[in-house]
Amino acid sequence: MDSGLNGAHVLITGASGGIGQAIAKFFDEEGCCLSLHYNKNKKQILRFSSELEGDHCLLQADLSSEVQTKELFRDSIATYGRIDCLVVNHGIWPESPVPVHEMKLEQWDKTIAINLRAAFICSKQYVQNLVTFPKEFASIVYISSTAGVFGEAGHADYAVSKSGLHGLMLSLKNEITHIASRGRVNIVAPGWTITPMTEKFLEDHEGIRSALQTIPLRKLARPEDIARVVVFLSSDRLASHISGQVITVAGGMEGRKLFEPHEIDINGI
Ligand SMILES: NC(=O)c1ccc[n+]([C@@H]2O[C@H](COP(=O)([O-])OP(=O)(O)OC[C@H]3O[C@@H](n4cnc5c(N)ncnc54)[C@H](OP(=O)(O)O)[C@@H]3O)[C@@H](O)[C@H]2O)c1
Repeated sequence: MDSGLNGAHVLITGASGGIGQAIAKFFDEEGCCLSLHYNKNKKQILRFSSELEGDHCLLQADLSSEVQTKELFRDSIATYGRIDCLVVNHGIWPESPVPVHEMKLEQWDKTIAINLRAAFICSKQYVQNLVTFPKEFASIVYISSTAGVFGEAGHADYAVSKSGLHGLMLSLKNEITHIASRGRVNIVAPGWTITPMTEKFLEDHEGIRSALQTIPLRKLARPEDIARVVVFLSSDRLASHISGQVITVAGGMEGRKLFEPHEIDINGI
């Protein structure tokens, strides 16, 4: 199916990460011009960039800094002009579980600054770009998490940073159409996905087993599972009447155990 995205300029944050690379690869296959953001992992994004066929540029920024985020958008626009689609994908998941009553304010502030405040700053920069370059079409996709839907014990900072994206999306979907009449804003909420973010967790077979007990499909997502949905939602042709939606890509996870440990085959994930 033709997405109609050929020639569109797409900015993807966190394109050096597992899900970000898969998203970039699928947009590349659709013939998009890509602004690929990374923070620290220049080596990884340089290696990945050699796999891409189409036009792309690599842009570094720590998105917890407003100054660096503004520079990122300025450089992206200077390279390929109007940013047509934005994918806010970057994020951190502080690995060690810490209950709310023991969580340090520094951890809370850092997670919110990188995952949520940065999403606001990116959205603001993106919408300002729509004002400068008026056209009907626009799309934002935020990568949230099942933690933002069900919560996550020991990770309240992360869960709040992700559920906060839902409020941002629901508000912005109503604002954006005053600027771009066909502008749409949506969320993809992955569950457990095999990427560098989760690699330590996935070394723990008991951890995988307990995650699979909550998932009817009894497998974990691959980055491509998430990326396909992002491209679909970004396409004005395929998803032209979808805005303000959260698409959960988590194998039917309901946030509660559905299977006992002996019913899980971890070799089949
Ligand atoms: N993997 C999962 O199971 C899962 C589940 C639900 C939701 N998600 C969400 O999916 C998104 C992608 O996750 P992933 O699994 O692909 O993670 P990942 O492989 O760890 O990638 C994380 C990305 O975020 C970037 N990043 C980290 N701190 C940053 C900062 N201060 N400023 C700018 N960028 C920063 C990293 O850049 P550098 O590497 O260049 O520093 C990297 O590109 C995240 O929002 C995550 O919360 C993942």
